[in-house]
Amino acid sequence: MIDFKTLADRYDTPLYVYDFDHITERYRELKGAFSGKKSLISYAVKANSNLSLLTHLAELGSGADCVSIAEVRRALMSGIPKYKIIFSGVGKRDDEIEEALREDILLLNLESEAEMERVEKIAKELGLQARISIRVNPNIDPKTHPYISTGLHENKFGVDIETAKRMYIKANNSKSLYPVGIHFHMGPQLTELDPIREASQIVADLVRSLKAIKIDIRFFDVGGGLGIVYDDEKTIAPYDYAQAIFSTLHGLDVTLICEPGRFMVGNSGYFLTRVLYEKVNEGRRFVIVDGAMNDLLRPSLYNAFHKVEVLGKSEDVSEADLVGPVCESGDFFAKRRALPATEPGDLVVVYSAGAYGFVMASNYNSRPRPAEVAVTEGKERCIRVRESFEDLVRLEKMCL
Ligand code: LLP
Repeated sequence: MIDFKTLADRYDTPLYVYDFDHITERYRELKGAFSGKKSLISYAVKANSNLSLLTHLAELGSGADCVSIAEVRRALMSGIPKYKIIFSGVGKRDDEIEEALREDILLLNLESEAEMERVEKIAKELGLQARISIRVNPNIDPKTHPYISTGLHENKFGVDIETAKRMYIKANNSKSLYPVGIHFHMGPQLTELDPIREASQIVADLVRSLKAIKIDIRFFDVGGGLGIVYDDEKTIAPYDYAQAIFSTLHGLDVTLICEPGRFMVGNSGYFLTRVLYEKVNEGRRFVIVDGAMNDLLRPSLYNAFHKVEVLGKSEDVSEADLVGPVCESGDFFAKRRALPATEPGDLVVVYSAGAYGFVMASNYNSRPRPAEVAVTEGKERCIRVRESFEDLVRLEKMCL
C-alpha cells in the first residue's frame, strides 16, 4: 500500500506517484505470455517518458518504441540497448532520420512511400543500409473503448496492403534499404480479441506472400493498445492476447514485437491533488482542487473516465463535479460523481494516471508541472522535481 498522505505532505500537490513494482509485474506478465517464442517488448515511450521509469524498464529487459528522436535519445540515455529501439511516427524530419540511422537502432518503421524514398536517400548519402519495417493498415474495426477511440483519425497511419507490398518489393531492390519488419497498430484501449486476431491474420498472410517472393520478414510488430481498467472494463489477459497472435503465425519464423504503453504504466500511476474549496452553483456542487487539466488532460480532452477517491472520507456523499482552477469550463477530472463532503486540504487520488498523464501536461495558465515520485519496494524517490516559476520563464526573452 502506498502512503499517499505522507507523499503529499512531503512533496506537495499536485503530484504524480508511480508504483514501479506494479510496472515490474506488468512487464513480467506480458513477457511471460510470450515465453517459448522469440519476442521483444518495446515499451511505447510516449505513454510516460520519465528517465527513471525508462531505466526501470531497461533493467527489466524492455526495448522502446519511440515517435521522435528525443524519445530515442531518452531510451538510449536510460540504458535501453540500441538493438531494442524502434523509431515510428507518421512524420519524421530529415535530421531525425539521419540521427536514428547513425545510432544504428533496430529499425525505422515507415508509414508512406514518400517517407521511404526520403529514408533511402539519407541512408545512401550516409553510406548506410537502413533497416526498415512498414506500417500496414489492415482496415479492421478495433472496437475500442468509445471514450478514446480515435476512429476516423486513424487513417493517416500506415499504408494499405497493396501499397505495402509494392514498397517491400522496392525496398528489397534498394541497396540502401533492408526490409526486416512489418507493423500494425489497432488503436488504444483494446478490450476485444477478435479484431486483433483478424488483423494479425491479414498481416501474417502478407508476410507469407512476401516470403514466397524471397522477402524474409523477421520482425512481426503488433503495435500497442492493450486495454486497462479505468472503470469496470473487461480487459484482455496477456496470455490470451499472445495466443491469439501466435495462432496466426504458424509456419513463420519471426520475432514478435509488441509496443504496450498504457498496459505497462497506466494502472501504476496515481495523481494526487488537494481540495481547495467546495461551492454550489444553481444547485450543482463543485469540489475545486489544486490540480487541473494542464496536469492531467485526459478527462478534458477525451472525456476519459478516471476513478477518484477522497482519502479517508465516506460521509455525506452527493453528486459533484471535481474541477481544477484553470479558466476553462472543460477543466474537470470527474463529472456528476458521488463524492463525500470535503474540507480544504483533503487529499484526492485520481487513479490510472500513469499513462498519458504527465507527458501530456502543459504550463497552461502559467502553472508549473507537478513533481513525480516513484515507489519501489516501499521506498520512495523523487524522479522529477516540481517546476518553479523560474523554469516557466527561463527560455523567454524580454525585449527591454
Ligand atoms: N504503438 C503505436 C504505433 C501507437 O500509436 C501507440 C499509441 C502505442 C504503440 C501505444 O499505445 P498504448 O499501448 O499505450 O495504448 N493520449 C491517448 C492515447 C494515444 C495513443 C497513441 N498511440 C490517451 O490518453 O488515451
